[in-house]
Amino acid sequence: MTTLTAAPPLKTPPFHLTGNYAPVSDEVTLHDLQVTGALPPELNGTYVRNGPNPRNGPTPIWFLGQGMLHGVRLQAGRALWYRNRWVDALTTSNTHVVRHAGKLLALVETARPVVVSDELETLGPCDFDGALTHGMTAHPKTCPSTGQLLFYTYSLQPPFLTHYRADPSGELTATVPIQVGKATYMHDFAITPRHALFFDLPVLFNGWREPMPIQWSDTYGARIGVLPRHGGGGDVRWFTITACTISHTVNAYEEGDRIILDVVRGPRLEAPTCLYRYTLDLRTGEAQEARLDSLHVDFPRIDDRLTGQPHRYVYALELRDIVNGAPTSSLLRKFDLATHRSVAHDFGPGRVGGEAIFVPRLQSSDEDDGYAITYVYDGNRNASELIVLDAADFGAPALATVLLPRRVPYGIHANWFPTGKAE
Ligand SMILES: [Fe+2]
Repeated sequence: MTTLTAAPPLKTPPFHLTGNYAPVSDEVTLHDLQVTGALPPELNGTYVRNGPNPRNGPTPIWFLGQGMLHGVRLQAGRALWYRNRWVDALTTSNTHVVRHAGKLLALVETARPVVVSDELETLGPCDFDGALTHGMTAHPKTCPSTGQLLFYTYSLQPPFLTHYRADPSGELTATVPIQVGKATYMHDFAITPRHALFFDLPVLFNGWREPMPIQWSDTYGARIGVLPRHGGGGDVRWFTITACTISHTVNAYEEGDRIILDVVRGPRLEAPTCLYRYTLDLRTGEAQEARLDSLHVDFPRIDDRLTGQPHRYVYALELRDIVNGAPTSSLLRKFDLATHRSVAHDFGPGRVGGEAIFVPRLQSSDEDDGYAITYVYDGNRNASELIVLDAADFGAPALATVLLPRRVPYGIHANWFPTGKAE
């Protein structure tokens, strides 16, 4: 007699292993890509985006996957190549990619950077000639006026927060421990010409209790620390704010004795996030907060030449129609903070964009005179594209579309690296 046993219940796979979050299994190099429209001939450089792409089997959480870089090189109106490469390192290095002192650095939250070549091949770890004893945030800031790279790391052990400065040649010139109460999750920070700003928020590390290593605290409180750029850890002034999470900084700048700080803020973990503005009064020690817009957005970017200076325009991704934890459509938004309006770029049904990078037009200093560039996944053909928009005519059809014959999985942060430019 045969005993029938119940089949195990079907389990819905996690979002990061399905659809266009699912990893790709190989590295490819593809030349002379098909382009529709006209690539601006002045766009000479590489758009590179990082993201988790598990290499040795599925990971339980999306952000634990090994980093993979996806790049498209543009030159003189042509799309020369697409290539994808794992970051071949002991750390996941899956979150961002920046350039400093002539080196491309693949970054993750709290580990040392990994140097990669312009062709995205891993060259090795970077510890600033032994001076960087801990890690580097995935969101360092390049000061446009000094060329310095400012960053920090947070740690599970005291000092929980350490600020660093590196000069334009890549030498680490300052290490500044900063006192905070506990090990808090601090994904981003901000700089102005005179200050560095840190977010000590009620998201605490919990010893890796499933499903996340961090959790919300109803009692820790929330504050923004303002450190003079050349000060010591004891010089931080703390501004108390309403409990919240800050996923990403838009920018910060100074107006007399006030610091204006724009961020993407949520009321607590895993809640929708919106654009917010904090005004920190250095005379009174008080902070004011105001919501700039009610749309749910993240991945904010500005014209990076304005880091630390007043900005008017913000590019961000509005994720919509979430199914099984993943967006099935999206809009890119360009916010005009002077008129309090936004313009959408709609990619169309089944098409999802990523972080958009503003690339200024050559010889132009106007804030929105340039291009917005991003990857778009087209679910209709299960493949991706690199899209070039006119930033000043944001809702118009793309100026150019580089058609890739395969998909680029959804990822995290991107940057544009002009060819032949050292910084
Ligand atoms: Fe980030």
